[in-house]
Amino acid sequence: MMTKSTRYKPKSKRQTLESVRTLIPRAQIQRRIAEMAQEIRRDFPLEPLHLVGVLKGSIFFLTDLAREISGDVSLDFIAVSSYGNRTHTSGEVKLTRDLDSSIEGKTVIVVEDILDTGMTLQYLLRVFEQRKPRRLRVAVLLDKPERRLAKVRADYVGFTIPNEFVVGYGLDYAERYRNLADVGVLTLGGKVKKS
Ligand code: IMP
Ligand code: MG
Repeated sequence: MMTKSTRYKPKSKRQTLESVRTLIPRAQIQRRIAEMAQEIRRDFPLEPLHLVGVLKGSIFFLTDLAREISGDVSLDFIAVSSYGNRTHTSGEVKLTRDLDSSIEGKTVIVVEDILDTGMTLQYLLRVFEQRKPRRLRVAVLLDKPERRLAKVRADYVGFTIPNEFVVGYGLDYAERYRNLADVGVLTLGGKVKKS
């Protein structure tokens, strides 16, 4: 509605100020995911694996990873939202959608898009540990170790990247860009967006 604010900028104009510079091309993402799937299956050759995707950023990674893992695989999803200042150590995380089924006794692989401060993963691991899985492992497509505040690590990392804000392949900026097949660095008005 135009009546609300005089500072309204047409969407198209705002979007022309944004651009994305490819950081990891799609073919490289797909190759790495196939390797990660093999690493995971090698570590647990005989066990059914229960993949838990963290919505929404992990969806493409999870679906591609799941299809590269041989044998018995089941899927579930959880959603969280971080509120307050995400860069602050006390930044709280809230569970907004829980799993459909119990993880007790299962070999669980948490699948996340990106490990940044680590606050989200720290929260999720605490929640999951209380539910007595047989094993609990973490797979992330991207890791930004420079930003870490919480003492957490992933067992499987696709790519370690510098401290830049990235979009694509599930990762968003204000809910946009998730559908890009490549991962890229977001540039706002000619400047690279800081994380
Ligand atoms: P953490 O709790 O700081 O580790 O943040 C994890 C979540 O923040 C991820 O699941 C993403 O949703 C979001 N996030 C962190 N860094 C980026 C980024 O560079 N681009 C898009 N989303 C990000
Ligand atoms: Mg996310």
